[in-house]
Amino acid sequence: MQEYANPSTAEDNSMSLKNHEWILKSRPQGLVKNTDFEYRESDVPPLQDGETLVKVRYLAMDPATRGWMGDGGYVDPLPLDKPVMGVTVGEVLETKNPDVEVGTIVAGVGNWARYMVVPAEQMSVTRAGELGVLAPMDISSGHPIPMYLHALGTSGGTAWYGLMEIARMKAGDAVLVSGAHGSCGSLVCQYAKLKGASKVVGIAGGQEKCAELVELFGCDEAIDYKDCSDLSAAIGKAFPEGLDVFFDNVGGETLQAAMDHLAKGARIAVCGMISQYNATGASPGPENMWNLVANTASITGFLVSDYFGSPECEQAYAQIAQWLDEGKLNARVDVRDDFERIPEVFNELFTGGNRGRLMIQVASAD
Ligand SMILES: NC(=O)c1ccc[n+]([C@@H]2O[C@H](COP(=O)([O-])OP(=O)(O)OC[C@H]3O[C@@H](n4cnc5c(N)ncnc54)[C@H](OP(=O)(O)O)[C@@H]3O)[C@@H](O)[C@H]2O)c1
Repeated sequence: MQEYANPSTAEDNSMSLKNHEWILKSRPQGLVKNTDFEYRESDVPPLQDGETLVKVRYLAMDPATRGWMGDGGYVDPLPLDKPVMGVTVGEVLETKNPDVEVGTIVAGVGNWARYMVVPAEQMSVTRAGELGVLAPMDISSGHPIPMYLHALGTSGGTAWYGLMEIARMKAGDAVLVSGAHGSCGSLVCQYAKLKGASKVVGIAGGQEKCAELVELFGCDEAIDYKDCSDLSAAIGKAFPEGLDVFFDNVGGETLQAAMDHLAKGARIAVCGMISQYNATGASPGPENMWNLVANTASITGFLVSDYFGSPECEQAYAQIAQWLDEGKLNARVDVRDDFERIPEVFNELFTGGNRGRLMIQVASAD
């Protein structure tokens, strides 16, 4: 179900509300299982001075959360016996914080929960991005809320930062994108085309996704990695002169295959390595690193969190918003009404079930 209404002004009595939270009980091995979590019900406690009650409206499903649940990642592992955390959008329902207004839409890395009670120190613009910190979300450009989790949020910023700043894509470049049908990837393909790439090729799983890459997401060609006996050969066929930019969401064998076909001065932006996130052992690196030397190429990893708040990031969002308004960007969201089934929905990121930016609608506007 899709629901795009903006803030309600409803005031609830927190004492009568039931909360439900997904509590992390163990470090998952491979795909997550229901037994890795507890679906816990509790009463929402009465607010203390300084606290704010937030009704969660949307939870974004991000592959990175799988890393946060485990022992290896770029943040400390999420604590056991506490709620799983991810990008959250909610609405202030009630507050005893004089700096916060009822009805404000807030966002941040919050809980997989129906409600959050947020202390004053964790309702903070200056600490935005820290786990558990929420801050008012700028929805002034008037788009539906899910779009601020997609093209006008993390995915849109990631796609732009990786393509334009890290890979320094310029008009005329030949661009390859892995994970191309997904949230970040589908935006990268379109940005590349809108910015004058000479050729854009997307890699995705399955005929339907590959057809949509060409019909909907700006690709000149698509490679179905699930129906491809030799990915390197397929990439070589698509880029007989080599590729200038590779935006990689997948890693592993996909990265190695792309590195077989670098043009002189190629730039690889490593956005993610989704093929490795459920691995239970060490993953081999590419065996063809020499190709970087031979082609004076570069490979750079990045985190969008380093980009947020910069003037360049603001300019990027202004351009993205304009493209949306002009109908030049197809930013597809996949909104599910499945709070009670979050682990199953989350796994779809790794089995390819999602069709666009995957998120859970936890509550509608009243
Ligand atoms: N660096 C950053 O700051 C940053 C920020 C956000 C996201 N990311 C990364 O960006 C990547 C995409 O994230 P997203 O949120 O946009 O998710 P998404 O692409 O919307 O969804 C994940 C997609 O990845 C594909 N996939 C899953 N397992 C795969 C495998 N083993 N091999 C090839 N493809 C596989 C699936 O599509 P198919 O059906 O095509 O397999 C799936 O639909 C992830 O690696 C994520 O960690 C990085």
